[in-house]
Amino acid sequence: MPIAEQTSSSTALDLTWVRSQFPSLAQNVHGRPAVFLDGPGGTQVPQRVIDTIADYLARNNANTHGAYQTSHNTDRIMDDARAATADFLNCDADEIVFGPNMTTLTYAISRALGRELGPGDEVVLTLLDHDANFSPWKALEEKGVVIRAAKFNETDCTLDMRNLAANIGSRTRLVAVGYASNAVGTINNVAEVVRLARQAGALSYIDAVHYAPHGPIDVRALDCDFLVCSTYKFFGPHMGVLYGKREHLKRLRPYKVRPNTDEIPNCWEWGTLNHECIAGIKACVDYWEELGRRAKPEVTTRRAAILAAHEAIHQHERKMIEKMIAGLLAIRGLKLYGISDPRRFENRCATFVVRIEGHTPLELATKLGERGFFTWDGNYYALNLTEQLDVERLGGFLRIGLVHYNTMDEVERMLAALREIVAHLT
Ligand SMILES: Cc1ncc(COP(=O)(O)O)c(C=O)c1O
Repeated sequence: MPIAEQTSSSTALDLTWVRSQFPSLAQNVHGRPAVFLDGPGGTQVPQRVIDTIADYLARNNANTHGAYQTSHNTDRIMDDARAATADFLNCDADEIVFGPNMTTLTYAISRALGRELGPGDEVVLTLLDHDANFSPWKALEEKGVVIRAAKFNETDCTLDMRNLAANIGSRTRLVAVGYASNAVGTINNVAEVVRLARQAGALSYIDAVHYAPHGPIDVRALDCDFLVCSTYKFFGPHMGVLYGKREHLKRLRPYKVRPNTDEIPNCWEWGTLNHECIAGIKACVDYWEELGRRAKPEVTTRRAAILAAHEAIHQHERKMIEKMIAGLLAIRGLKLYGISDPRRFENRCATFVVRIEGHTPLELATKLGERGFFTWDGNYYALNLTEQLDVERLGGFLRIGLVHYNTMDEVERMLAALREIVAHLT
């Protein structure tokens, strides 16, 4: 089956090479090829990430800052991973904090910020966000902080920017917004959100977990104060990454044990970290870099290669979005939530949620799973969204998530499977 879907542009995605990097993609389920449409829940990893993690454990497994070789190696591996991640987000290495996942890192920052907030202070959130960018801030209510939640437009599941702006005022201390929705796929205008926050003298906190595999992140250009993502959503190991502006990481007071130094970023990294996975993060960024260099051989720096990789990915994902949405909308009784107008596809990523009247998302996901299509059902922790759209009590949505290793052929097969399942169900 041909899978090379090169575009005519100079930044073509070599899909045959891409897929050859991910060993898990070659699996079968009940004799049919597995189709991984569960990227929003966690992506597959290239062989080099697996090898790097195994190699770390086989040869360098040690704690940090010891006076012997494997510990020195561990220090170097951590430094390399930090520098690579800094290139991924376009910041300095000491502004990168590693943690178990985005949720834990967000609680760390909310607790530290909470030390300086009290009655009269306000935090602005959105109802479109994953709960990990909601509950850690809502917990500040116990300090008397007022939480305001911006609405979204129910027709296309886009953020109501007017409502968001109206919620930001002189008492706002922080605005926390997602870069892209992990349910409906909407990409928010975070640059504008950061600008509104700054104008009000508030900090901005961007949850880029869902956006990271789909679009380039430039924290310098955004000028956000914090940005979080999770490497397991962009082809790396199960880890979280926080970017914080140096001035904030230095000024805020994290809760920590006494022997942990006051140096950033270490004062934010508690206990012994997952060294093998941090080694794997470097291998993940290496993958991005190679993807970019193959797409655009003339690039010179790692950052430029990462941007080239995104360019190639964007073109490929855009085509899959077009095909998937056209196909979904043609299925009788199917309701798609989120942006469906091709003129606005730049404001969405390749994540789709649907419902089919009379059938639960779990039924659909189960039938698809039996046929080798890995989708998801439920709320994916985008709880405010499913509650407001009144689908929480109905089992949420069926979510189909594409990333760059998916193919047009897989999109077609997924649509055919869905059509067949729906025909038998209805
Ligand atoms: C948009 C978004 N934010 C936050 C999270 C939480 O990430 P983590 O599992 O790293 O805590 C997720 C996980 O699905 C997500 O999709």
